[in-house]
Amino acid sequence: MQPFDFHTRTRVIFGAGAIQRLGELSYELGIRRTLLVADRGLVASGHVDEALLPLQRAGIEVAGFHDFEVNPDTKMVEAGRSFAAPLQIDSIIGLGGGSSLDCAKGINFLLTNGGEMRDYLGYGKASRPLLPMVAIPTTAGTGSEAQTYALISDVESHKKMACGDEKAAFRIALLDPLLTLSQPRVVTATSGFDAIAHAVETFVTTRRNGLSEFFSREAWRLLDASYERVLARPDDLEARGAMLLGSYFGGLAIENSMLGATHACANPLTTHYQTVHGAALAMLLPSVVRWNASVVGERYGQLLKLSSVNEEMSTGESAEALARRLETLAAAGGLNNRLSSAGVQQSDLNMLAEEASQQWTGQFNPRPFDLAGALEVYERAY
Ligand SMILES: [Fe+2]
Repeated sequence: MQPFDFHTRTRVIFGAGAIQRLGELSYELGIRRTLLVADRGLVASGHVDEALLPLQRAGIEVAGFHDFEVNPDTKMVEAGRSFAAPLQIDSIIGLGGGSSLDCAKGINFLLTNGGEMRDYLGYGKASRPLLPMVAIPTTAGTGSEAQTYALISDVESHKKMACGDEKAAFRIALLDPLLTLSQPRVVTATSGFDAIAHAVETFVTTRRNGLSEFFSREAWRLLDASYERVLARPDDLEARGAMLLGSYFGGLAIENSMLGATHACANPLTTHYQTVHGAALAMLLPSVVRWNASVVGERYGQLLKLSSVNEEMSTGESAEALARRLETLAAAGGLNNRLSSAGVQQSDLNMLAEEASQQWTGQFNPRPFDLAGALEVYERAY
């Protein structure tokens, strides 16, 4: 079994209405003057006000930064740094989906350690401490609140850069399922599938270990049982809570075992076709599961046994049965399952495969992943 080194750096608070405690929890951390990073949609939905109230009650001064979009890029993060630089803040609070949380981390790198985002590409490049951060996810998907990586797109190369550092761990992750009720259906579907992909991919990577497997398994169990429920009944708070917890466990699994070929193949689709991350994963994950079958079919069978649905299967068909279960889940979310019907050009597959094979995350896939492998995955999904 693989050795591991697990250090819980983040205090996790879970519960409906937990946002009410944001003021006291932040005050306890020594927060007096903070930057609230939340995208514009969060202002419109009223969640920013929900966060402001308890902060103001605790006497904490708040400046809001909302000037960024989905898949934050280097320019947006730099705008955040320029905005925050004169404010003398002592902390950063990220409120929203993965974009808000990644943007918060990115701003923190630049503000405390200077330079530009690409200086932090990889892991452990920050030499000075970062400001303490609080994460409040409002979608159940990325699990960014559990991760020390910021995913920021390079505005020039359009490549997604993974910039990680243990100092970028959130000090608190506040998981309040009530905040996820406002997700539009398409966000519930795509971000939820992202979490599902995290559970499935992390469970089979070459980096997996006894601890990451535990998080992957529990993430899968919760997400598989709740995804269809939240789509059928968006106000089912129990199921929303399970999705939020499942996505958090998925994030912890990534932090401890990395990802695989599905994410490697999804990123170029987002770069070239602006495909939403979770929608790209929904088209590719069943294909990757089938492609990995010869190496980790038995492990996929373990996931299948935890599924809320008893798929008929016999030995050797676990991967196929899991792939079918994933297709059923994607269909419940109204997600496209073929690249061809998503507007991807067949003539682009070689170029996409070339880029996918260079993605860092592909190297952790259980079946050695290269250009030929990437092309096979795309062709199966086409
Ligand atoms: Fe993802």
